[in-house]
Amino acid sequence: MSVPQKIALVTGSHKGLGYAIARKLAQQDNIQVVVTSRKEQDGLTAQQRLAAEGIQVAYHTLDVNDDSSVQQLTTWAQQTYGRVDILVNNAGVNPSQPEEASLLTVQLETMLSTFSTNVLAVARITQALLPLMQTHNYGRIVNVSTEMASLTTLGSDYYPLSPSYRLSKLGLNGLTVLLAKELQGTNILVNAYSPGWMKTDMGGSDAPFTADEGAETALYLATLPEHGAQGKFFAEMRKFGGPIALQW
Ligand SMILES: NC(=O)c1ccc[n+]([C@@H]2O[C@H](COP(=O)([O-])OP(=O)(O)OC[C@H]3O[C@@H](n4cnc5c(N)ncnc54)[C@H](OP(=O)(O)O)[C@@H]3O)[C@@H](O)[C@H]2O)c1
Repeated sequence: MSVPQKIALVTGSHKGLGYAIARKLAQQDNIQVVVTSRKEQDGLTAQQRLAAEGIQVAYHTLDVNDDSSVQQLTTWAQQTYGRVDILVNNAGVNPSQPEEASLLTVQLETMLSTFSTNVLAVARITQALLPLMQTHNYGRIVNVSTEMASLTTLGSDYYPLSPSYRLSKLGLNGLTVLLAKELQGTNILVNAYSPGWMKTDMGGSDAPFTADEGAETALYLATLPEHGAQGKFFAEMRKFGGPIALQW
């Protein structure tokens, strides 16, 4: 008996961690991945790169900050598949370090735009796509956060201050907990995770790990079995050799 195909959508997946997550998901037998990007050419190039490896993915444009872009994607997914089973909220921004050196001097505009992409956009896309999960009582939502943003590490001297970035991801963590509460008793599971410090445009070349390594926990959370983790915060897998929940 063939396993029904799952539809997986990854935000910001033409490069970096999003690309690695899309690639890993698309390598699973029963998952049709939709790569998304703000600029169409970026996404089509990513689609071609994957095709060159023998990995077929669908593509649609998506700017997570734009209501009409999210609506267009939702309508297209409804008409094309009638469902979305997996949503990876990967798209994110991290303002430059000089800007982020102090909460006392950071531009409030910068904080606002960072919150817009890292938190509000996740609420926007979740509101739009959740009905396509509820119809089939199946969904796996993976929110890409960072351990720099857990309340337990916020006071630590180990990380840069980065107020816009860390407070926005703290908001994303809170969103994850609230959504999980609303989804209790359903087969729609939402969790956040920290992919670790990776060599991407955001992470820079000094980072110790690859985006491919950072994508492992996303694959785990995107394919959780029924009654799997709900409303938890996971670490990157390689650090502990398996899925480990962190403190918020
Ligand atoms: N790199 C790290 O060390 C690290 C560590 C912890 C967590 N993370 C998280 O991992 C995620 C991916 O980061 P990354 O390292 O892969 O960074 P990246 O290479 O800079 O990629 C960020 C992605 O987000 C997309 N994006 C930004 N704003 C968007 C918008 N309004 N609509 C749609 N897409 C948008 C970007 O698209 P454009 O190319 O169009 O801008 C790009 O595809 C982020 O949520 C980040 O916070 C990264």
